[in-house]
Amino acid sequence: MGCRALLLLSFISLGAATTIRPRLKTLGSPDLSTTPIPDPAVTSNYSVLYFQQKVDHFGFSDTRTFKQRYLVADKYWHKDGGSILFYTGNEGDIVWFCNNTGFMWEVAEELKAMLVFAEHRYYGESLPFGQDSFKDSQHLNFLTSEQALADFAELIRHLKKTIPGAKDQPVIAIGGSYGGMLAAWFRMKYPHVVVGALAASAPIWQLDGMAPCGEFMKIVTKDFRKSGPYCSESIRKSWNVINQLSSTGSGLQWLTNALHLCSPLTSEKIPTLKGWIAETWVNLAMVNYPYACNFLQPLPAWPIKEVCQYLKNPNVSDTVLLQNIFQALNVYYNYSGQAGCLNISQTTTSNLGSVGWSYQACTEMIMPFCTNGVDDMFEPFLWDLETYSNDCFNQWGVKPRPHWMTTMYGGKNINSHSNIVFSNGDLDPWSGGGVTKDISDTLVAINIPEGAHHLDLRSHTAFDPSSVLLSRLLEVKHMKKWIADFYTNAN
Ligand SMILES: *[C@@H]1O[C@H](CO)[C@@H](O)[C@H](O)[C@H]1NC(C)=O
Ligand SMILES: *[C@@H]1O[C@H](CO)[C@@H](O)[C@H](O)[C@H]1NC(C)=O
Ligand SMILES: *[C@@H]1O[C@H](CO)[C@@H](O)[C@H](O)[C@H]1NC(C)=O
Ligand SMILES: *[C@@H]1O[C@H](CO)[C@@H](O)[C@H](O)[C@H]1NC(C)=O
Repeated sequence: MGCRALLLLSFISLGAATTIRPRLKTLGSPDLSTTPIPDPAVTSNYSVLYFQQKVDHFGFSDTRTFKQRYLVADKYWHKDGGSILFYTGNEGDIVWFCNNTGFMWEVAEELKAMLVFAEHRYYGESLPFGQDSFKDSQHLNFLTSEQALADFAELIRHLKKTIPGAKDQPVIAIGGSYGGMLAAWFRMKYPHVVVGALAASAPIWQLDGMAPCGEFMKIVTKDFRKSGPYCSESIRKSWNVINQLSSTGSGLQWLTNALHLCSPLTSEKIPTLKGWIAETWVNLAMVNYPYACNFLQPLPAWPIKEVCQYLKNPNVSDTVLLQNIFQALNVYYNYSGQAGCLNISQTTTSNLGSVGWSYQACTEMIMPFCTNGVDDMFEPFLWDLETYSNDCFNQWGVKPRPHWMTTMYGGKNINSHSNIVFSNGDLDPWSGGGVTKDISDTLVAINIPEGAHHLDLRSHTAFDPSSVLLSRLLEVKHMKKWIADFYTNAN
């Protein structure tokens, strides 16, 4: 039963999922009061444009089109010797990614670059069928990474054709998280369109069992273990305490009160409760940044350390343990002091498109996850493709094709490609499925020991560890080389 428990709400919020589908979350804006960010007047100085895309790039009978949104900022762009930095949009509102990819804004001048942020189809405003886009599997049929990459290629072709001076310039793909996977795949599939790619926190090997299924939660656990004595042990212990308390009516009532929940617990809701708590720990691992920041929730610097302050004592009674767990959860949900109660149906208020991602996680993006409760601090949970697949079929009327992405993008056999930088933060659970070792001279890994989920793409702050400063310098060095090579070969 423990297995099923963690499985139910899983990592995706809103209760939509019945299986484990962690979200590839992107980073948010730093708290203005504590961290310097570039002048928002500058980072928001872009034009919002639309491009008419084909709904289906890979057939000729369907001639429908839709409007894809993209943003362009050209303040620092030079027609002579300039470049184009192209953000391969992922599963959310493109303005949000633009807001939170300060790195691109900060290097624009040095690279004389035009910035383009392209929205991914089925997210933000780029809905192929408007309100009906998520209606059924017929309407969702065109939500694939291949279609998204083809959108990007068509858009770049359009930009080069219509913007005087853009035609003979090198384009570099940049993305984080799923957007980083897309950036890497874009360079692999369209090397004639982009000269290179910066793929930040891109877990391309999380797919199709290329990484051990337990790795992700092991890294989450390691983050907690390192952040305070008995922290991960306390969390590991808490699941059984919850199970025991929830076996009686008075226990459920006590839990509801102790955790300050918005609505009364019933025994049917216990799996949701445990999934919500697990997701909270996962989210904290992703956004364990060195400075106060407001993304998934407003959080202090190094939030896991704050959480672990409450989980230092292993020898407390069951009820005290759960009260401590509440204090720890409250760091995440009530740092601002605004929360009236805790809602187990949500872990974030973000601009991510959870419906679209849930579909993608049921078709192409199959990422096996498991836990054993020994190497990690969670209840044991076995990966079971059949159950997963059935849940997907019930929800979307489609079944996953777990191996397709390996067929499409090469899996681990990618050494025939070139000019991709894979960056990963060691604190980021997604690094377990990332490329963390050089594959060749031009397929390069950059590891950021103190980094959580694509810290390098964020605006720099005074609190950045030197490892992330160094990684950004290296990334710029690679990009400059790709640009220089492009111009050398052109002449
Ligand atoms: C905004 O961008 C435009 C066009 O690139 C540029 O001319 C203008 O100076 C920019 N404004 C600011 C405040 O940076
Ligand atoms: C992006 O940033 C601007 C300016 O700070 C803000 O007004 C806007 O709400 C943000 N949009 C998103 C989607 O994050
Ligand atoms: C959140 O913090 C505020 C201020 O400390 C407090 O009044 C409130 O009860 C807290 N909410 C919860 C759910 O604990
Ligand atoms: C809890 O979150 C769900 C999903 O976002 C929402 O529909 C519901 O209204 C929330 N409940 C409370 C009491 O805030």
